[in-house]
Amino acid sequence: MTDLLIRNVAVLDGSAAPAFNADVAIDGGRIAAIITDGTSGSADREIDAGGACLAPGFIDTHSHDDGAFFRHPGMEFKLAQGVTTVVAGNCGFSAIPADPEQDSVAASGGILAGLEGEFTDLAGYYAAALKRKPAINNIMLVGHNTVRSQVLGMEQRKPSAQELKKMRDHVALAMEQGACGFSTGLIYRPGRWSETEEVIELASAAKPYDALYTTHMRNEGDKLLEAVDETLTIGREADVHTHISHHKAAGQPNWGKVKESLAKVDEALAAGQRVTLDVYPYTAGSGRMIEYFNLERISRDLAEVIRIASCPAFRDYEGRMLTEIAATEEIDITEAVRKILTAPHGDRTICIHFIIDEADIETNLAHKDMMVGSDGIPDLRGRPHPRLFGTFPRVLGRYVRERGVLQLPEAIRRMTSLSAETFGLTERGQIREGYWADLVLFDPATVIDMATYDEPKTEPAGIRLVVVNGEVAFERMDANKPGVHTAAGTGKMLRYRRTAFGED
Ligand code: ZN
Ligand code: CU
Repeated sequence: MTDLLIRNVAVLDGSAAPAFNADVAIDGGRIAAIITDGTSGSADREIDAGGACLAPGFIDTHSHDDGAFFRHPGMEFKLAQGVTTVVAGNCGFSAIPADPEQDSVAASGGILAGLEGEFTDLAGYYAAALKRKPAINNIMLVGHNTVRSQVLGMEQRKPSAQELKKMRDHVALAMEQGACGFSTGLIYRPGRWSETEEVIELASAAKPYDALYTTHMRNEGDKLLEAVDETLTIGREADVHTHISHHKAAGQPNWGKVKESLAKVDEALAAGQRVTLDVYPYTAGSGRMIEYFNLERISRDLAEVIRIASCPAFRDYEGRMLTEIAATEEIDITEAVRKILTAPHGDRTICIHFIIDEADIETNLAHKDMMVGSDGIPDLRGRPHPRLFGTFPRVLGRYVRERGVLQLPEAIRRMTSLSAETFGLTERGQIREGYWADLVLFDPATVIDMATYDEPKTEPAGIRLVVVNGEVAFERMDANKPGVHTAAGTGKMLRYRRTAFGED
């Protein structure tokens, strides 16, 4: 008898084909059968889905969950969205390599918060993370900022040949142990001090594995197009698949530029280069506030569109716009910025900045190689950016159902099979017999994000059931009741185009 039978579903198999009706049987962690002729037998557990859509579990191609696997192994904010796998280690910050002598959490500005343990490499990190019984799967990138700060500290200079080799060895070791690629965050310290040549050299360590180069580009605003050129050059020279993270045109004067930027990508694709992208469906970004300001010349324009997410120095600022904080305290807005950033732990402040045009989100989502990545920062204190809880249901509810920017089967493809293929997730991302049973059951008529900037820690509506490696991990078959996280703990640590960690 099979473990689980989900009867009466509309299967969206991840290929962008239209939905078809079936019963899906799950056994031993995998999809055992897709039955379309009504001959399904019985199972230990049977669920009648009442015609809801069954899709492969969503793949969050852009996460910062390296530390969350330790601090929040239940990964509730991802699971309740239907996410069954995340790609971590983005924007150049990764849990590995780690040096027990150095504080990589501090070096990442808190992006890696939550990490514990004595690991130094990917195998060590994976073993430590698995002990926490994670709710969902993870695959890692190895980050440039992390590697560079380990070898050069915060020095603003070129690496010597020997230092560059050391950095490359770290990247190569991660690849050997199953990382899916090398990531950069070239607006952040210390990555911003590197020249293109350095990045090419390090990205080329992914080539023997045919793995990826992913990037938070050097500039997403005034110099967006130059940054895209640099990215494409790096991909070409290193001869690796290149993936642009959270593609956007930041700042009102730059709105609309994503069209030109995508045209450059299309040109590269036409010339045979492998390029993909991801986007989050919100008009605000979020990150470590200190990275966006020069204290010598505080930008008023930027300050005016900022809202504080979490602020260890002034907890009462959380959830408020800087304009409002400055008005209440009767200080100039640039003074408010200075006050926050120069306070003790001010550098750990996470802000939300409203810098993106709504129309650009739609332009992005309409591109055929555009995946979805939340870019959520899993700091649950304060009021995090709602993308942490809402990204995938928001694409399905707002951009597919309400605005018709793309069709449902195509949206599912971009959240599942395209991502699995790109990030080397073996036997995942499609509903196919023999594939791992990572599945999400949802109601296409009601699925929507519920997380807002005021109430960001709110689970979405319309997600009915999430299965991770064959076990029910989240359940909300009755829409009138809150969802239940089952703590099944069946997530795996994945390796690029290979078996999962520990499953040789
Ligand atoms: Zn980024
Ligand atoms: Cu990021």
